Amino acid sequence: MTSIPSVELGVYPDDCDAFGHVNPAAMLRLFERARWDVLISGPGTDVFTRNGCWPAVRKATLDFRAEAFPGDRLRFDLALTHHGHSSFTVRETAHRTHDEALVAEGEFVIVCIGEDHRPVAIPAELSRFFGHRPSTLRGVTQYVAVRGLATALDTQGEGLPVVFVHGFPLDRTIWRYVVNTLTGYRRIAPDLRGFGLTDAPLDGYSMGAYAEDLAKLLDVLKVREAVVCALSMGGYVTFELLRRHPERVRALILADTRAGPDDAERREARDAMIAKVTRNGAGSIADDLIPKLLTPTSIATLPGLVNRLREMINKQTADGLAGALAAMRDRPDSTSLLPSIAVPTLVLAGAEDGIVPVAAQRAMAGQIPDGRLAVIPAAGHLAPAEQPVNTGRLIREFLEALP
Ligand code: MLT
Repeated sequence: MTSIPSVELGVYPDDCDAFGHVNPAAMLRLFERARWDVLISGPGTDVFTRNGCWPAVRKATLDFRAEAFPGDRLRFDLALTHHGHSSFTVRETAHRTHDEALVAEGEFVIVCIGEDHRPVAIPAELSRFFGHRPSTLRGVTQYVAVRGLATALDTQGEGLPVVFVHGFPLDRTIWRYVVNTLTGYRRIAPDLRGFGLTDAPLDGYSMGAYAEDLAKLLDVLKVREAVVCALSMGGYVTFELLRRHPERVRALILADTRAGPDDAERREARDAMIAKVTRNGAGSIADDLIPKLLTPTSIATLPGLVNRLREMINKQTADGLAGALAAMRDRPDSTSLLPSIAVPTLVLAGAEDGIVPVAAQRAMAGQIPDGRLAVIPAAGHLAPAEQPVNTGRLIREFLEALP
């Protein structure tokens, strides 16, 4: 199993500015030091020169969250969030070790430049160290027939099966960053009916239909039981799966979701949105939704994510989205199901989730006998995409602790 080891660095006085604390410029330096430190424990800092290239940081984004002072120790967690031919993207978080406060998060796009000053392939040993497999999610999208629909899914790795269920109006790739960090597990990320690359029938959308699709998909993949890791609407589907096929669920991760049904106001908003996508197409709801899905800071500092979301929404079909909106509008109340959930459950809440407040998620976790809540700082409704490093770490810790 390959995962990028964390590193701890102490803050020195000369890392600090005239006000005596680490400022954003110094933070960029510390992020860089952490990357080199990671290489020391891996393929060596000469991995680039050995392979006839050097790394150029083409883009650096920094989200600065809290202070750090001389004497503090910072833990840096790294995750490879994109691996192309000649460039890769690393997300890094820095936490103060004494109180686990998130000090900063950065995203770095690094290009390998060859001797002729042109981009060259990323050295294979570096790719291996990062846990990158040529058959990553992008490479192994496959289609299987599920209840009469061509269903797209990405699969990766061996081990305990973990199924990632996306939310609305998204597709399987919303989990990609987290999925890429979870080496050592058999990761299965499908597009639900009507989303992404899966067939979008004209009708036949309900939480029951999505849940039966998932159960059938597990049959097709010969998976008897899986950990289900569900985001928002994926959680509504998972409650239905638990109602119908509890024996298929080995453990649960519920991210930014709720057990309660839509109230009258929300049902009316669903109808208005159905009218909008039917009239103007899927892309017409992107501008309304993105500010609700992400925090203002994510919107300002993660332009790649914002573009990706917009593209994801634009590519959906109006039928698929209208069907999902009606299914969400008509879904049953799952609150009474919570005390009967018999598997370990991790509830992951974005601290700034504007769609499902943390308080609602705390209450939900409290009603599940073996449930616990983890709050992800600096994340809105899409914690797995806004904070993939932290989300991936919490999921890994949960999976590793399963009996
Ligand atoms: C989602 O992210 O799946 C949606 O926000 C869920 C909802 O609209 O209730």
